Formats: sequence, C-alpha cells, structure tokens
Amino acid sequence: DETTARRKDAHLDLCATGDVEPAQNSTLLEHVHLIHCAMPELAADEVDLTTPFLGKSLRAPLLVTGMTGGTERAGVVNRDLALLAERHGLAFGVGSQRAMAEDAARTASYAVRDVAPTVALLGNIGLYQAIGLGVDGVRRLSDAIGADGMALHLNAGQELTQPEGDRDFRGGYRVVEALARAFGERLLVKETGCGIGPDVARRLVELGVRNLDVSGLGGTSWVRVEQLRAVGPQAQVGAEFSGWGIPTAAAIASVRAAVAPEVRLVASGGIRGGLECAKVLALGADLAGMALPLFRAQQQGGLAGAEEALKVILTALRQALVLTGSRSVAELRRRPRVVSGALKDWLAAL
Ligand code: FNR
Repeated sequence: DETTARRKDAHLDLCATGDVEPAQNSTLLEHVHLIHCAMPELAADEVDLTTPFLGKSLRAPLLVTGMTGGTERAGVVNRDLALLAERHGLAFGVGSQRAMAEDAARTASYAVRDVAPTVALLGNIGLYQAIGLGVDGVRRLSDAIGADGMALHLNAGQELTQPEGDRDFRGGYRVVEALARAFGERLLVKETGCGIGPDVARRLVELGVRNLDVSGLGGTSWVRVEQLRAVGPQAQVGAEFSGWGIPTAAAIASVRAAVAPEVRLVASGGIRGGLECAKVLALGADLAGMALPLFRAQQQGGLAGAEEALKVILTALRQALVLTGSRSVAELRRRPRVVSGALKDWLAAL
C-alpha cells in the first residue's frame, strides 16, 4: 500500500545523505592484511576474475545487493545500477518486492530486463513477507521480473527498531525449507547488515540453502536508519543497538569454515573498495557485495558517477590480486595472510 512506498522513499532519503554508517562500527577488515609480492610475474590483464553465479558467468566476483523498488525514483536507481552490472558483467539484485506484491502497478520500478537482458538478476523479499505470500507468491515475484534467483532477506534487528515492525520471529526455518525446495540453487538467503553466523548458516544449508550473503556489521546499519526515523523510547533502543551485529570479516571467515565449499557465499556489509573485496574473497567469499556506495554514487552523479565509482573498485580489486601474485581468486585464497586484533578474538569464539 501507500505506506510501504512512502517508508521506502524515507529510507532512500536517509541512505542518500544521512549518517547510516555509525563510525564506531567496523567490518574488522582492517585486521586482515594481504601480503605483498614484490615479483608478481603476471600481467594485470591475465588476472582471471570470472565467477559462476546463478547459472551464469560473471566477469568479476561482485554483486550489487538488493536495495530498492516501488517508486519512480527507485526505478531509476534499479535501471542505472542494473545497466552498469550488465555492462561490467556483475550480478544485480533489486530491493524488496513487497511494494509490488501489494500493488502490481509498481512492478515497472523493478523491471530491468530491457536494460540488462543477460545480467545475473536476483529478486528480493523479506522472510516474514514470504510467509504470507507462500512459495507460489514468491515465485510470481521472481517470474514477474525475469529473475535468475530470489534473495530472501533477514532483518530482525531492523524490524524490532521499526515502530510498525514485526515482533514475532517464529516459523522462519519452515519457510526457508519450503523455498529452498522450490527454488533449489536459485535461492539466496541474506542478512541486511547484522550478519549471519556459522550456526545459522549451517542450519540454513541443512535445509537446502545453497547461496548465502552474510551481510555483516560495518556498513549500512538498518537499526540506525530506523533509529533516525523513530522517536522517543524506540529511538533510544535503536541508538543502543546501532552497533549490533557480527562484523563482516568475522561472519564470512566463520561461515566459510562451517559450510561445504560448494555453498556460494557473498560477503557484503561495509565493503567500500576493491582491496576490501579482495580481503573478503581471501577469507572465503565467492563474491563481494555492495549496496550503499553504489547507491550514493548514483544519487550524486547518475549513471556516469556510479560507473566511475565502480571502475575504481574493479581496478583496485585487480591490483590486489596482482600485488599478492594471484592469477585468480582461487590462488588468492591459497596465499598466506595476517589476521590480527579483534578479528582473531571473534574467530576464536565463532
Ligand atoms: C538496502 N538493503 C536491502 N536489503 C534487502 O535485502 N532488501 C532491501 O530492500 C534492501 N534495501 C536497501 C536499501 C538501501 C538504500 C541500502 C543502502 C541497502 C541492504 C543491502 O542489500 C545490504 O545488505 C546492506 O546495506 C549492507 O551493505 P552495504 O550497504 O554496507 O554495502
């Protein structure tokens, strides 16, 4: 209904210019040090970044994670970023399709196939909306935009901070199991900035999930976004929890160790450059994911601005592989690296 669309626009405004990345939060990627190779013996052009995902072959291991849809403004964001993903061979996700589930007239703002005919495309719906929609309803959302796969997002932290949000989180695994049976390799389960830890990851994989985006702490905080919208006691609780979550580096390394190597892992949440992409790939991610930086670049500089930002990221990622002497992500993973400080503590506990 109207309120879903209006809330989404308020979210976009806050994400475009608000303080949605609390400075005290960290991915802990500053505690990962890749090791320099003075004699790389390879050319930047021969670094192989191709990555399989959702039955397609990406030219670089990068996913623009789901952000938006439902309004005209959101439609422009989707089309610009999907076009970029198509042009550079990345994967792209639309934001929550709840608005189009409530009002089919909003479908156009999620439709990107005319500008991104071959992009690896993910639909998106929240776990608790999926309970209401059922497997067939979720499949209709995916089909309506010609998606290659469906992202199911988890956001308990955000819901609890949102005055109108959910308070009852029972029955989630049952829905995941049904969706995993229906979608198979085409289902991805993601967090939204608070992280998925190894215990939850293991259980999701047992239920048939084959793609996970850990989306950890250190970037966009949805608790903070809701805190900024809330008033009174709700805002105070939000302030207390705006640093809640599993840092992205801790989430990706611990989940990689907990699940089979065939499970495709995306690491998002606070990844802000190509070197950080290389770090999460070294820790075991198959793809790095990014939302806020590309959204902001698009808001400030349109398609050209977003493309410039993306080129910097891709150049730095390639450079990190050259400077570690790695011809591929598989080689990068085999290189030694230093893990220091708080990240070591997290990994000892997880
Ligand atoms: C998001 N994110 C998100 N995730 C999701 O699954 N469905 C959604 O509708 C949205 N909406 C959304 C809007 C905007 C403007 C942003 C910035 C983000 C979460 C996103 O996919 C990602 O998990 C987190 O934002 C962490 O990544 P970054 O932003 O720190 O790179």
